[in-house]
Amino acid sequence: MSMIYLDKLQIFIAGIFVLDRYNFPIYNQPMGKVKSKWICQQCGYETAGYLGKCPECGAWGSLVEEVQNDLKPLNISPQGIINNSKPELIKDIKIGNEVRVSSGISEFDRILGGGLVQGSLVLIAGDPGIGKSTILLQTSGNLAGKGKKILYVSAEESSRQVKLRADRLGISSDNLYIYPQTNMESIRAQIEELNPDTVVVDSIQAIYSQTISSSAGSVSQIRECCNILMQIAKTQNITIVVIGHVTKDGNIAGPKILEHMVDTVIYFEGDKYKSYRILRSMKNRFGNTSEVGIFEMGVNGLREVKNPNELFLNERSQDGIPGSAIIVTNEGTRPLLVEIQALVGTTPYPSPRRVANGVDYSRMLQILAVLEKRVGLNLSKQDVYVNVMGGIEIDEPSADLGIAIAIATCARDVVVDSQTVIIGEIGLSGEIHPVTNIDKRLNEAITSGFKKAIIPYANKSVKNDKIQIVPVKRLMDAISACISPQG
Ligand code: TYD
Ligand code: MG
Repeated sequence: MSMIYLDKLQIFIAGIFVLDRYNFPIYNQPMGKVKSKWICQQCGYETAGYLGKCPECGAWGSLVEEVQNDLKPLNISPQGIINNSKPELIKDIKIGNEVRVSSGISEFDRILGGGLVQGSLVLIAGDPGIGKSTILLQTSGNLAGKGKKILYVSAEESSRQVKLRADRLGISSDNLYIYPQTNMESIRAQIEELNPDTVVVDSIQAIYSQTISSSAGSVSQIRECCNILMQIAKTQNITIVVIGHVTKDGNIAGPKILEHMVDTVIYFEGDKYKSYRILRSMKNRFGNTSEVGIFEMGVNGLREVKNPNELFLNERSQDGIPGSAIIVTNEGTRPLLVEIQALVGTTPYPSPRRVANGVDYSRMLQILAVLEKRVGLNLSKQDVYVNVMGGIEIDEPSADLGIAIAIATCARDVVVDSQTVIIGEIGLSGEIHPVTNIDKRLNEAITSGFKKAIIPYANKSVKNDKIQIVPVKRLMDAISACISPQG
């Protein structure tokens, strides 16, 4: 009897209130205005009901219910386009000079394409502890020193913590405001009141808008907060720099949607346990991408490194060891000399191990396949480890030849001449493809004291009498050319 009574009571309650999926009434939301969506936290896929597996990205258990109140449509799109705009003839569109403001850090300016563009939204992403807050506090200090008004929104640390860091960095200014706040609406109100030139938001994952009921860091919150910040940047011509954390697999948490919305995306990478850090531009609506800036973390914050080659090569043994090769990679407009190391040894496991650090895993497998088929190196029972020294990531194909030579010399226990640099892309039949900016790469090698360069045959027209140039057509020729006579 009592069971039937309870059931009837529940139906009665359901008639009055909206029931959520646990049959709890949602009292505080007006009926008819509540929208509930299930959103994949990996890729942003939206659906009306729960699914165990995301049909878009295939992630399991990644869909989270997010309840959304009816929002007023924003007057501006994520790309900063005002919604009530009219079509214009291209010849009639006036472009003013974009105003760029120097960050006071020349490496940072170079990545931005010459400084921060007034009214742009910039995202700086990186692992926790890499130095994002440090570089932006240093930048804020520099800008404030030049008379700009800066609002530093600290959503993760208290004012005292930020002040301690500022003291360490020697920053003190009348124009730098520290604002510990996580509420987007309060941040917006303060921006209206202070009218700063630049706003730093540390970090986007820690702030929330009260128009959305899901927690800070969820896809809806990140999207909404980013939208609001974009609207502020574009309508009030305020430069906004946003910090974003990356997940374990290297994506910006919360996720790709953030990259699409902002004007500029900059990654801050490096080995947390070493002192150097690399800033890399991934997207820039106002400049070149794939530029890098190199910094060293010291006791007084980040210092620019003007000659990075010394930093990457100074731990290298001058006598040469089997399995080490120096490549010249081209990062944006700057060539960089980097050491690639390989270790090859008989495997104790049933199937051999392949480990790639700093180079693309499938690229390494492809190089191994070419070495087996075209050079006759038998690696089927060998473990292969490849590592880029200095903790940097190389995605340029010109590193192929260096990787192949590091592996081949280690397998054959011979040494590459320590004065030689190796440049070239490898094709599947073992042929060496040309690379871009060969002259710049050679000049960089000469500056660092290298005497010999193995380069692709198709690049052989390059003239340089300060370095011995050895053009090679095939991988086999390259391997014989770079083994030192005593090796
Ligand atoms: P931080 O900027 O807080 O990193 P993020 O905001 O990316 O999480 O930097 C954290 C690390 O940097 C921390 O481990 C301490 C170190 N650090 C220095 O070595 N020297 C310094 O002057 C500062 C400010 C930080
Ligand atoms: Mg931080």
